[in-house]
Order: sequence, then structure tokens, then C-alpha cells
Amino acid sequence: MADKEMVRFAIDGQEVEAEKGTMLLPVALEYGFEIPHLCYHEAVSPYGACRLCLVEVTKRGRTRLTTSCNYPVDEGIDVTTDSEDIQRARRMILELLLARAPHSERIKKLAYEAGIKETRFSLMDVGDCILCGLCERVCREVVGADAISFISRGDKRDVGPPFADPIACIACGACVYICPTDCIKMEERGDERTIVKWNRTLKMQECKSCGKPFAPLFQLNWIIDKVNLPKDFYDLCPVCRAGR
Ligand code: SF4
Ligand code: SF4
Ligand code: FES
Repeated sequence: MADKEMVRFAIDGQEVEAEKGTMLLPVALEYGFEIPHLCYHEAVSPYGACRLCLVEVTKRGRTRLTTSCNYPVDEGIDVTTDSEDIQRARRMILELLLARAPHSERIKKLAYEAGIKETRFSLMDVGDCILCGLCERVCREVVGADAISFISRGDKRDVGPPFADPIACIACGACVYICPTDCIKMEERGDERTIVKWNRTLKMQECKSCGKPFAPLFQLNWIIDKVNLPKDFYDLCPVCRAGR
């Protein structure tokens, strides 16, 4: 295998090193620089949707504001993580996000840290989704179910199952976990699990030993088929399996 090509560059005057082409945000975070971000997660590909991770990059004498989560690092670039221009742009973005997701604790905290107490923009009633696309990416790239996607355009742009039919959703909860505004809720009642935002309710498998429901049957069969496991592989819940 070819050796990795490493590049050296500066972040806020500190020399750092990373593999050429790595995205700037994870490198900066690893070195301990604080850059706010909402639509980035190391488990999925970058998308550049929220624009909160803005930095200034100087390359060959030219400086420009750019999102860092989808900016590939290169030899000799000079990165600034905090400047008047960055702060001004970030405050504007946060005010817009606050208008879109006024109940999100994560956004309220980011806004507070940026010195914003209220937004000048009209509040929207869109259920706190900021269209960051993390749920869609984790479902497609990590889970492999590809059950949700962006739908509609313009003001109506949203994320959800195609044709409002969540037939491919295995109710695994990965999208619930990754959503930065906590707007995808999961409920478990009796032997049923519901992913509220996608209107998907599935029956849970009951453990053959202790009788407790522990995961959606549809999800377990989906994994059994995908990885070619024995049909009785998920007869026991993780606790009973561990004590076997
Ligand atoms: S709960 Fe459904 S939509 Fe969410 S990641 Fe799992 S399969 Fe995809
Ligand atoms: S539901 Fe959550 S994860 Fe999905 S796009 Fe909206 S804010 Fe992002
Ligand atoms: S984290 Fe970079 S644009 Fe959202």
C-alpha cells in the first residue's frame, strides 16, 4: 500500500500535520481547536449544510471564508478559526437556525455562546429540523437501509421516507441518536417501537429466555438476511445472551 502523503499547515499560528485531503474540521478538532458545527459527524460523509463550521483559509496569498467540514487540507494553508468576519457570519447563521429550531437545546446553547439572546427572523413552525441531512446519511451510509431522503424543494424541503411510506425503516434508532436538534423521537410501548417522525411502528422481538421485548423483529430479520446469520441468532436479548 502506498505511504500516506502528509501535509503541514497552520491553524491559528500553530503548525499541524495531517494526511493530505483529510477534511479540515476533524483535524482541527483533534488538535483541540473549537469550531462549532452541526451537520458534521465522523461516522458519515461531510455535507456542508449548516455552514456553522466557517473558518478563513489563506492559500497562495488569497484568503476566503469556507466551511471546514468539507475543506480538504493541503500543504502550507493558513487557517484562522476566529475573526470578526467569521463571528459576524456565524451569528447570522445562528439567528437563522434559532428561527428554524427555537426549541433545540443544542442550537440555543450555540447561540448563547455566540452572544445571541434572540433572533431577528420570524419563527418557523417546522418541528426543529434544520435539514442538516445527518439522519439521511447515517441511514444510507452506516445502517444501509436507505429509508429516508430529502423530499420536496424550496420552502417545502424536508427529510423523510419517500412518498411518506416508511417501508424500508428498520426502526434501529440511528437517526434518533445522530439528529443534532433532537427532533426525531423514538417511543417504546409494550412490545412496539415507534420512530415518531417517520410514523414507523414495528413489533419487537421478545427474548426467548426472559420474555422482554428488545429490538424490532423486522430489524433483526433484516440483519439476519443481510449478514446471512442463522435464523435463531436473535432469539435471546443481549443480557440473556451475555449470561449464557
Ligand atoms: S430508524 Fe429507520 S430511518 Fe432511522 S436510521 Fe434506522 S432505518 Fe433509517
Ligand atoms: S431530522 Fe434531524 S438529523 Fe434529520 S435533517 Fe432534520 S435536523 Fe438533521
Ligand atoms: S458542520 Fe460544516 S457545514 Fe455544517
